[in-house]
Amino acid sequence: MKDLQKDSQRDPATEISFSGLALPAGGALALPEFADSDRSGLFSAVNEATGGAIARAAEAASFSFRSGTSCTILAPGAGLDRVVLVGLGNKGDLTEALAERAGGVAALAMAMHSEAAISTDGIDAALVPLIALGASLGLYRFDRYRTTDREDGPKLAALTILSSNPETARTAWTSWEAVARGVTLTRNLVTEPANILTPVAFANRAEELRDLGLTVEVFDRPAMEKLGFGALLGVAQGSSNEPRMVVLRWNGAGDDSAPLAFVGKGVTFDSGGISIKPAAGMEDMKWDMGGAGVVTGLLSALARRKAKVNVVGLLGLVENMVSGNAQRPGDVVRSASGQTIEVLNTDAEGRLVLADVIWYARETFRPRFMVDLATLTGAIIVGLGHEYAGLFSNDDTLAANLTAAGQISGEKLWRMPLAEEYDQLLKSDIADMKNIGGRPAGSITAAQFLQRFVGDTPWAHLDIAGVTWASKAKPGSPKGATAFGVRLLDRLVRQYEAG
Ligand code: BES
Ligand code: MN
Ligand code: ZN
Repeated sequence: MKDLQKDSQRDPATEISFSGLALPAGGALALPEFADSDRSGLFSAVNEATGGAIARAAEAASFSFRSGTSCTILAPGAGLDRVVLVGLGNKGDLTEALAERAGGVAALAMAMHSEAAISTDGIDAALVPLIALGASLGLYRFDRYRTTDREDGPKLAALTILSSNPETARTAWTSWEAVARGVTLTRNLVTEPANILTPVAFANRAEELRDLGLTVEVFDRPAMEKLGFGALLGVAQGSSNEPRMVVLRWNGAGDDSAPLAFVGKGVTFDSGGISIKPAAGMEDMKWDMGGAGVVTGLLSALARRKAKVNVVGLLGLVENMVSGNAQRPGDVVRSASGQTIEVLNTDAEGRLVLADVIWYARETFRPRFMVDLATLTGAIIVGLGHEYAGLFSNDDTLAANLTAAGQISGEKLWRMPLAEEYDQLLKSDIADMKNIGGRPAGSITAAQFLQRFVGDTPWAHLDIAGVTWASKAKPGSPKGATAFGVRLLDRLVRQYEAG
């Protein structure tokens, strides 16, 4: 039974294989085509084999081959059940992100067939694996808890990518398949309900990644007490689910060079604590561990594709609950850095968790740079909505590299300011700082708070509250957990790999 398999190793539902550019004998076929192509090659072969049905259908539907669109033709002849035309836009405009989306659109349009093929005729070899990535990710569905209606989901069991050079495409796919699996792991973690994915359960799933060659270290409450993690443990104290910190390490550089560090907020449920949240929408707070989910999926992807770089991933796993033992507004806690914090709002808990983990990451690993990911503030959703994540950084090079990786991967970042004037808003009457800065600039004061724990390490903070969960499906991407950050950071890491 599927559920008995280790979660991190569950196979993707669709098997992807590669073969040459030839008209398939039957089943479903997707023909991604540029708006400005001459429709020679496989398109014209299929059109001829179907007596011109494909061109007639495109004409009748006024299909424009605009990127993100598709046109389905049922039983066109030549033994095919379905042909799906997929718009790629103009050839010069096709990016990795658009290729990925086209793959998703194609696979979703053929999801009800058990066998299907996607042509990559005319598409740059470097973008062919992105088509496969999009197809694989577009078919994602979480059905662990369904006992009925499982059969409503995608049936596509075997997908063939047709390419002029299938060997090259297959080789290129191995590294992207690792990314696809990382994204799937992240989506599974983020989708799990909070009664299942407690901090301990999350740590257990992280431990499964040892099989991929990662080093996994787990810290329990006494271990964190020893480290002086008063800020993280203050958040955890209201929950009967014990907190954990997980440290995942991938040493792919072949030397002991300083690692890249990624830190994730892993609040497995955020009730707000005593500063409790309103009931409407509180269920969303099961995905307040999205940052930790991304770091876990990223490290699994890097291990699977054997990235030539040293990387460390740290997860701060706690549940923010209400109880007789819960932290109170007004409590003062001592962070691992020694700095004291007046907790004026128990719902500003993510920064408390990250304060200790970020500090530990810096002190322990002296990383080349550190990137933290957190569903940190509702204010970032007000500012940027659900398209861009907020980027805050003390280092212009790191910020520029991240922004570029975002443009390429399609997981886009918008840089926000950090400044002394905002930092002043965190002044406390009785401690070194308070954990809220007031209503104005809520995402910035949260970032300023984190900055107090990074020292002079080049650091970036990604506020992913608006992009971690999609309440609506988009072309090529299902609703629910997005795993925003895995593809982005995989792309960033590629820039830092040796040779
Ligand atoms: N996890 C929330 C932020 C959040 C809100 C994520 C909506 C995703 C969707 C965070 O812990 C929080 O509660 N932030 C507060 C901070 C405030 C009390 C200063 C917020 O944004 O309201
Ligand atoms: Mn909160
Ligand atoms: Zn939170």
